[in-house]
Amino acid sequence: MPTERTSLGPELPLRVDRTSPEPLRDQLERALREAVRAGRLRAGDRLPSSRMLARDLAVSRGLVTECYAQLHAEGYLAAVPGSATRVAATAHPLGARSTHATHSAPTRIDFRPGVPDLSSFPRDEWARAVRRACRHAPAEALGYPDPYGDPVLRDGLAAHLRRVRGAAADPDHLVVCAGFAQGLQLLLRVLGDEGVRTVAVEDPGDPDHHAIATMLGLTVVPVPVDDHGIDVDALAATDARAVILTPAHQSPTGVVLAPERRHAVVAWAAARDATIIEDDYDAEFRYDREPVGAVQGLAPDRVALLGSVSKSLAPALRLGWALSPPHLAAAVARHKQLADRGSPVIDQLALAELLGSGRYDRHLRHLRRRYAARRSALVQALRQHAPDIELRGLAAGLHAVAHLPAGADEHAIVEAARRRSVGLHAMSRYRMVAPPRAPQLVLGFGNLTPDAISEGISIIADLLHTTPDRR
Ligand SMILES: Cc1ncc(COP(=O)(O)O)c(C=O)c1O
Repeated sequence: MPTERTSLGPELPLRVDRTSPEPLRDQLERALREAVRAGRLRAGDRLPSSRMLARDLAVSRGLVTECYAQLHAEGYLAAVPGSATRVAATAHPLGARSTHATHSAPTRIDFRPGVPDLSSFPRDEWARAVRRACRHAPAEALGYPDPYGDPVLRDGLAAHLRRVRGAAADPDHLVVCAGFAQGLQLLLRVLGDEGVRTVAVEDPGDPDHHAIATMLGLTVVPVPVDDHGIDVDALAATDARAVILTPAHQSPTGVVLAPERRHAVVAWAAARDATIIEDDYDAEFRYDREPVGAVQGLAPDRVALLGSVSKSLAPALRLGWALSPPHLAAAVARHKQLADRGSPVIDQLALAELLGSGRYDRHLRHLRRRYAARRSALVQALRQHAPDIELRGLAAGLHAVAHLPAGADEHAIVEAARRRSVGLHAMSRYRMVAPPRAPQLVLGFGNLTPDAISEGISIIADLLHTTPDRR
């Protein structure tokens, strides 16, 4: 068998080299990206079907499909269902002069936090699980769903949360919901019914926590986060009777809630008769050790543990869970029924099947390896291109925080990066009243290949040297 195969015709050879240590998929992605950047493939050009390209390169069709999906997610390719994949209209060759104003440059490399590797979604396994659910679900399963969620899924989720998150998970206290976002709304409505008027949030923190609580008519108090997580003394000084926390990997600083703070916040909740809402959004991905167990395991009567498959499978599925303190579970299910009469059953059955068969665990292991490689690429790229930038919050999750040299102007860097098609996200977006510390960027790496990470960081390094600072 030849070690090198080419395709796309003599005028545009795409090579894969089987003797190279670089995985075939990475080689193919890189070759296509370079062809677009160099202008050899132009906006609107049609690509061969995945079947043809796979045959010509003697690789699997799945590999080509994944590669196209990744380049689609990065903005190089456009996919219209039912027709050929083409080079995206917005994909510009490197160095080509745009006739439009520079502010309209599309984002080519986006360090947006919160986006997982969209090309890793296990399409075939999910499709098979959905097909099996459709075939085998009894007719009764197709009526209005159980507002708590499918019992088999709840059993599987409870077992998973006990094993992987150290949670005290009883399936009777679980409600399947449309992602964390809905779980938070259900919990806050229930707490509002119970007389809670004030909710504390982390500062800096996820703007959606603040926005959702405000939308539901609650008073929101920001509480500072330091290098050990939320400041529990400052929390105790508020009149909040609930707090929304991201203990496993604080959003966005990336700090892990220190053991003494975990105990302190649980003691605060007991003394205040308060509820902790634990947002477990990317806890499956811990790199230096086993994931730290959920705070919920310490105090199941005080903590609601909310999670979803948005990082482990895909945000588009809108599947999550709320594991509530026992006395709140029925009220959460009642609000779920009023909100949308229950989550889609076929998807619940498909997830139950992935959990029960061990394929969900296998997929998580695959993702951990993939994200660990991307995280290493980020560390490596900074070491190489910008050693004066300190990276923190790397123990877990899909983003880290870059501490820029003192005096650097967060906004000027973000703006300059945008003109070079790189999406950056300033820490100031997440700050409420916490005084600005050193200038920082929140760098999501989940949906960027190692090559894109390296290229993006070299552009940032360049900007740091050419963008005026605040002094
Ligand atoms: C802090 C935080 N919580 C939760 C989520 C997940 O939300 P959902 O499950 O509604 O997709 C995200 C997604 O990026 C997040 O950043």
